[in-house]
Parts: sequence; C-alpha cells; structure tokens
Amino acid sequence: MQDFQEVTMSENFDFSVPSLGEPKIQSPIKMSTVKGDSIANYVADEERIIYDINAATGDTRGPFKKEELLERAGPREKVYFNPAHVHAAVVTCGGLCPGLNNVVRAIVRCLWYSYGIHRITGIKNGYRGFLPESKFKTLELDPEYVDDIQSKGGTVLGSARGGGDRVSDIADAIERLNINMLFTIGGDGTQRGALELAEELERRKLKVSVIGIPKTIDNDLSFIQRSFGFETAVEMAVNVVRGAHVEAHDTINGIGLVKVMGRESGFIAAHTALAMSDVNFCLIPESHFDLEGPDGLLESLRKRIVERNHAVILVAEGAGQDMVDETGETDLSGNKRLTDIGVFLKRKIREYFQASNLEVNIKYIDPSYIIRSAPANSNDSIYCSRLGAHAAHAAMAGKTKTLISMVNNTFVHLPMRVAVSKRRHVNTEGSLWRDVVENTRQPASLVNKEKRAVKEKKQS
Ligand code: F6P
Repeated sequence: MQDFQEVTMSENFDFSVPSLGEPKIQSPIKMSTVKGDSIANYVADEERIIYDINAATGDTRGPFKKEELLERAGPREKVYFNPAHVHAAVVTCGGLCPGLNNVVRAIVRCLWYSYGIHRITGIKNGYRGFLPESKFKTLELDPEYVDDIQSKGGTVLGSARGGGDRVSDIADAIERLNINMLFTIGGDGTQRGALELAEELERRKLKVSVIGIPKTIDNDLSFIQRSFGFETAVEMAVNVVRGAHVEAHDTINGIGLVKVMGRESGFIAAHTALAMSDVNFCLIPESHFDLEGPDGLLESLRKRIVERNHAVILVAEGAGQDMVDETGETDLSGNKRLTDIGVFLKRKIREYFQASNLEVNIKYIDPSYIIRSAPANSNDSIYCSRLGAHAAHAAMAGKTKTLISMVNNTFVHLPMRVAVSKRRHVNTEGSLWRDVVENTRQPASLVNKEKRAVKEKKQS
C-alpha cells in the first residue's frame, strides 16, 4: 500500500463528528448487542480507532481524548430519522470516476431494503441540477432503477463541474424538495461545497444530514487511505503501459510515452509504474525534473536508448508544468487547465534525438478518459458498495458534515472540515516514491547537479 499517513498526529486534528441531534428511534435493522452470538453487532459511537499508527518504543501517547480518535462507521442501534419521514437525495459531482454507479446503487439499496426508505431522489448533473435555472429533471431512485447500473462506467445521475458555490440556491432547492438527507459524491471541491451547504441549512434551522462520499481518481484526498475507482484506474493504466512497452520494444529505438491523470498528485502514475516494471521514467507533479543538461530527462533517456534500445515514459498530467506555457484558463471547478505535457515532451524528445542524429520512434498514448470512464473492477466494487452502505447508516444516525472514509482498513466517519483541510501528495522522501525509483531504475533525481546544489545551499 501507499504511505498515506504523511499527516501525523504531531499536527492536532479534531475528529469530532457533527450530528443533528440525539438518535432516539430504534433502528429497523435487526442486529445484535451481544458479542459471541454469531450475529452482526450494531456499532456504538464510542467505538473508535487511532489515526496515526506510527509508533516508537517508549511512546507516551494516550490516554486519548475523544476527539483525537476516529469514530467507526456502521449501523447504529438508535437512529435519528424515522424512515417514514425521510426524503433522501443523491448527487454526483465533478469529473467521472470508476465506481460512481456502484456507490449510488449501494446507497439506494441500503436505504430501501435495510431502512424501508422509499423516497430517494437522484439530482441530475451535479450541484447544477439544484439550481433554479436547471432544466434537468430529478430521478426517482429505487432498487429496480439501480439494478444493474454497477456494470456501467460513468454515473446514471450525470455529473458536472460548477454550481457548488451557489449555496443559497442549493439550500432553497433542498427546502423546496423537502430533502432531509443528502449524499454528495465528489472530490474536495464538492465536499467543501457540501460543508458550506450544511452550514447554511443549519442557519436555516433545517435538520438535513449531509454525508459525503469522497471521489477523486487522483487519490489526492487527505485522511483517505484510497479513494474508490483508483485501483481500477491503475489497472486500466497498466494495460496501456503494456501496449506502450510492446510498441517501444518491437521497433528501432522505440519510446512509448503515456500520460495519465494526476493534476497535483502523481498516485496513478506511481502505482502503475510499480505494477509494471516496464516503466523506465515515471514523472509526477511532486518530483521536479529538468529536461536539458547532463542529469535531465533527455540525456538520461538517450543513455537508456543507447543501452537498451527502448524506453517507456509514464507522465502524470501535472508533471513538468513549470516548463510549458500556462493556458491561463480554469475549469468550472476552479482548477487550472493544464497544458498537455505529453504533447510537449513528445516534441522535445523528437527534437533532441534529431539533433543528436539518433533514430527514435515515439508513440504517444493519452488514455485519460478511457481510464476514467471504465466500470469499477471487483475490488473497487466491493469498496464502493461498503462505502455506500456506510454512508446510508451515517445519515440515518443523524451524522452530518461528515465523509465516509477508510483509515487503517477501517470504515470511519471523518468530519468534512478536517478532510478538506489539505490535499494529499506523493511524499518524494517516502517509501512509495522510493520503491518507484527503485523499480524504474530512473535516476533518484532528474534535476541537474548545479541546480540541486544551489537549492540545498538555500535550504541549509
Ligand atoms: O479532478 C480529477 C481529474 O481526473 C484530474 O486529474 C483531471 O485533470 C481532471 O479531472 C480532468 O477532468 P475534466 O476533463 O472533466 O475537467
């Protein structure tokens, strides 16, 4: 697994989970309160786990305060909502990601079958489906509607960027629709919007549970061990790299260049490189590289071609952005539109080898959207159905402003406020990147020595 705990308890986080009020209603789900009777038990709010599992001999941590520990997710014995009074809504926001349909399906099935909730609305095309000018009709979701949606990529609800900042308009729509449970499936922008929305609903004295299911194919959310769809993305990327390797290998001085998603964090590229020892250069946003000069990418690539006659470069879209002209544009989520680093590298590589009078054959492959639109693989499907069910249980228990997350292989409630506080990046001094460099056998740094020396001097 990746080293995801780059945020350690040397920083203090308050993991207290906000709630709408005291859950007083007996859950309609029949579970046990007795350990050892072979029947699944309800989960109590007091059941908690430690976040930071790094430890040292003589560790003096503890006794822990309640807020220092993460609350276990799962069905509670007492719930906050009377199922007969619930109107739930589900929305998928931002870019696509494998597993969206699986999560929607799991939420619907858990609410319907486990709690007997029969008013579930699908909001079309992200937060924009809530807006007053929206022409998108809502969908009635039931087990029949979601019956086999998990076999398809994408989302039956449609997804879109933007609209999340129109908090007051969205709150108005929630009031008009009488929604008291909202599931927001989306990345950090979506969850930031969900948090502001929940605060607005609170100000209006409306008891609406807002539960987020974190979604990012880039796997760049902090406090989340692995985001759903990520494994599928890596699996898809591995197939592409396999093709790039064959193309590179079976020609004269072949170079396979593959670009994958990863705007600010290169997790897909790093994991793919580890899964496929055919990658010779893995380039990610977190690890700066030079193009020119004795230690730069082009010269390292030349050496590799001379020695082995073929090479595969795997680049994350956000890598090397300091070398290209900025587009000056942003998308509706407020993200900078990136310049295609793959196209840039292809041109630079071609020019370099032409000038060196060395024949090379470059094949550039950009599978980004093919990867993102794939249906979830088995492992992600398992993960998604569990995330969805845990989200339904959390909402029924009256939790709000909370995400469902997996931490230390345990499903937990993670306050949105904490989750959106920072992005996760590949730690270039951590074990994941170390193993990638070992596996690709690329130089530990593709930055020229003189430049490194200047930087080190500045830092000391
Ligand atoms: O936000 C996740 C992400 O997959 C990024 O890696 C990528 O830059 C972006 O979405 C592309 O999405 P779109 O083309 O829909 O804006």
